Amino acid sequence: MKFFVDTADVDAIRELNDLGMVDGVTTNPSIILKSGRDIMEVTREICSITSGPVSAEVVSMNAEAMIAEGRKLAEIAENITVKVPLTWDGLKACKVLSGEGKMVNVTLCFSVNQALIAAKAGATFISPFIGRLDDINLDGMELISDIRQVYDNYGFETQILAASVRSANHVAQCALVGADVMTAPPAVIKALANHVLTDKGLEQFEKDWAKTGQKIL
Ligand code: G3P
Repeated sequence: MKFFVDTADVDAIRELNDLGMVDGVTTNPSIILKSGRDIMEVTREICSITSGPVSAEVVSMNAEAMIAEGRKLAEIAENITVKVPLTWDGLKACKVLSGEGKMVNVTLCFSVNQALIAAKAGATFISPFIGRLDDINLDGMELISDIRQVYDNYGFETQILAASVRSANHVAQCALVGADVMTAPPAVIKALANHVLTDKGLEQFEKDWAKTGQKIL
């Protein structure tokens, strides 16, 4: 499973990239707001850190304007993935932009049918939001699993990019049900290293090592 990092924090992206943890990056208008930076400038810097797909989202509501924004965003770098919302206009923009050879990420997906039509419109990635379904007492992971089955049933090549990933458990479940990619904030990716028994074991090793009175260096 590929790891995308869901942030515009370039220091965090660099740190994870140095460890081989970044196969791509995803952003959205809320993430750009949080960064406090200009969308073109920060996206260009992100594209200089990773050669993997970097999602940059359009903000218009009609297809024509989305296509124009997508073309402008795609000029930033070769690895830009234009992110469009899962609306009828977003699907029109997806069809045109993917037809021009651009990578397209269709976002805000909450149902199997939405994922099905995004694939038919030529999406490179479909982004189902796990956490936001869990928030309203629906099962986000079940959606990932159902989309996997439908895409496999018909051989769709659209990659399932699990988004709104909030916990280490979400990451493990995504890998188990066969998501192609998951995108998560840096803190969630870093938390994958944590285990209470690792901490407990290390504490005991430290105590026992001190008792030996030895040094390695
Ligand atoms: O990848 C989508 C993400 O940015 C949304 O996450 O936690 O706001 O639902 P969240």
